Amino acid sequence: MADFDLSANFIPSLHKPASLLPIARHRQNLLYLIETFPVTIVVGQTGSGKTTQIPQYLEQAGWCSDGKVIAVTQPRRVAATTVAVRVAEEVGCEVGKEVGYSIRFEDVTSAATRIKFLTDGLLLREALVDPLLSRYSVIMVDEAHERSLSTDVLLGVLKKILKRRPNDLRIIISSATLQAEDFLRFFMGDEDSQPKSNALSLDELISQGSSGPIDDGFGGKTGRIISLEGRMYPVDVLYLESPAENYVDKAVQTVFDIHTKEPDGDILVFLTGREEIDTAVQAISERAANLHPRAQQIMPLPLYAGLSTEQQMYIFEEAPENTRKVIFSTNIAEASITIDGILYVVDTGFVKLRAYNPLTGIETLTATPISKASATQRAGRAGRTKPGKCFRLYTEASYQALSEATIPEIQRSNLAPVILQLKALGIDNIARFDFITSPPAELVIRALELLYSLGALDDYAKLTKPLGTRMAELAVEPMMAKTLLSAPSFGCLSEILTIAAMTSLGGNVFFHHDGEKKKMETARRKFAVEEGDHITLLNVYQAFITKGQKGSKFCHDNFLNFKAMTRAVSIRAQLKRYLERFGLSVDETLSSNPNLQKPLTVGGKDKGEQIRRCLTSGFFAHAAKMQPDGTFRNVAGGTVLHAHPSSLMFNRKADWVIFHEVMETGTKTFIRDVTKIEKRWLVEYAPDFYKIS
Ligand code: CDP
Ligand code: MG
Repeated sequence: MADFDLSANFIPSLHKPASLLPIARHRQNLLYLIETFPVTIVVGQTGSGKTTQIPQYLEQAGWCSDGKVIAVTQPRRVAATTVAVRVAEEVGCEVGKEVGYSIRFEDVTSAATRIKFLTDGLLLREALVDPLLSRYSVIMVDEAHERSLSTDVLLGVLKKILKRRPNDLRIIISSATLQAEDFLRFFMGDEDSQPKSNALSLDELISQGSSGPIDDGFGGKTGRIISLEGRMYPVDVLYLESPAENYVDKAVQTVFDIHTKEPDGDILVFLTGREEIDTAVQAISERAANLHPRAQQIMPLPLYAGLSTEQQMYIFEEAPENTRKVIFSTNIAEASITIDGILYVVDTGFVKLRAYNPLTGIETLTATPISKASATQRAGRAGRTKPGKCFRLYTEASYQALSEATIPEIQRSNLAPVILQLKALGIDNIARFDFITSPPAELVIRALELLYSLGALDDYAKLTKPLGTRMAELAVEPMMAKTLLSAPSFGCLSEILTIAAMTSLGGNVFFHHDGEKKKMETARRKFAVEEGDHITLLNVYQAFITKGQKGSKFCHDNFLNFKAMTRAVSIRAQLKRYLERFGLSVDETLSSNPNLQKPLTVGGKDKGEQIRRCLTSGFFAHAAKMQPDGTFRNVAGGTVLHAHPSSLMFNRKADWVIFHEVMETGTKTFIRDVTKIEKRWLVEYAPDFYKIS
């Protein structure tokens, strides 16, 4: 027995037993509260088991009898899918059977599904068909503290539904930080008594280590708050002495310093987006090649929305022996996704946030300083299993200057999609809708104007029929919905369907390995047309399904992303089904000819022009004019826009264009998926929006 080798004789269990999670001790209490009160607010550290365990407890306690389903909403698609995979594994079923998920354009559920993870936006959409969400016995709004736009709207809608289903619907709000009282107060509304003045703050109650339902000082019947005191180890927080010039470089440097100077333990680095993450992963790989072969190795991994399922799985796997894992993540690892084994956190202090400028009508994703609440949450990621360290790549003075909490998305977003949905749900008076935080009037007005110009609302701000109602039902944003619905009158519905599917891929159509960029550009040119990106995307799709026979070889030969192309086929089919439900038939015969680089003419009319006119009828609010220096200005002026390097309009001449979306990278604002149009079309299709001055 002397040379009993521990590591040779034991295999680590695949999963930490769920019974050892902090939430397990609260099981009875939780079930009691959910049984007793319409609303239960669950506050607990990330990793305590809220997302993965609560739905299983509920299922076992009988909340799915008589065929009812438990819904768990997530603000992010990636979280919905990874968590469903995990819970299915724990339950021992295939994803899509008892445990499934549903995100836009991807429904992995079946008649057998009892626990369903879905995005909060999708649940809102379901309310259009099933206004009381009657198939659900329990709806858990997860990650509510993030206050995503859809979460906020969903909360308001659920409050209304609860009034109609006071006895058979249960709502659980789960939140990683301490906004619990706000949520409870919101649901209590005018029915219950106001909070008693002697109420302890939640903070005080939690530090007392209370384990039962907290007497929140709310005597009402509406709900209760329960805190799962997840064990937290101390985390040392370190600041920079002077600000970093480039936080990506600094993050890479810090990771190497940790790797060479600090004891074992994985590293989690918060960056803002995919490009930064890819850069950092690349930099680590290069520098890792110079490590001494016998020294501990380092394995960089990316984590962001849009990773393939296999890529996601690496994140959760233990690193190979003698290897330190370093995960470069977007904000998604702040609370939505828990990774075990993290001992070091590197916090760059930035996050990409949506920001909508009502003056220019442009919504951007901009790297923005985080809030203090975020910084605390990020640091906490290092103390889940042992005492950890958090390296903040900013000064302590900068930390002090951060705002306390992030501004809810509803106060800084384009509200047109949300207002369209609320109207479709029969909520006409937006100003009187019960929002947990009201949106600024300016944003509401701007959204109403846009919807009016698109023809979705009439002079009385009522949803038009059928255009407005159909726009709300289509699973694409209002400008694209309008484009699709006006396509029949331009005789190009089949083509616009394809364009809608292709633009929804978010720029992942072409794909190249290292050092093949030139070849990819050459391949892309084969599909390119003078008019711009939309028709080019159309050509790519046509070639893929005809010449390419939807095969991976064609994609490989043409530097196309096979997965993305396959997704486009599926999205297109789903959109087509919607339109057919509206009684619109899609004539596919015209589009079987790929017509590469030749002008498309049908029945004497220039098909390409019809497509561009149709796009203008939906995207007139995204119009811009090229300036002598090659940049663009949008109509409202002000904003300097650059054609994205992936666009055909990059370094080309144009006059007026419309674009699909705006992206911000560093200090520049880029437009992606750009097509040439004629100025007069703007006045023709959006006379109110472009009142001739
Ligand atoms: O929702 P909450 O943050 O409270 O915790 P959870 O997501 O339910 O996670 C509970 C445990 O499951 C944690 O230890 C996670 O690390 C683990 N987990 C995992 O290993 N893989 C996943 N895909 C999800 C959770
Ligand atoms: Mg969770």
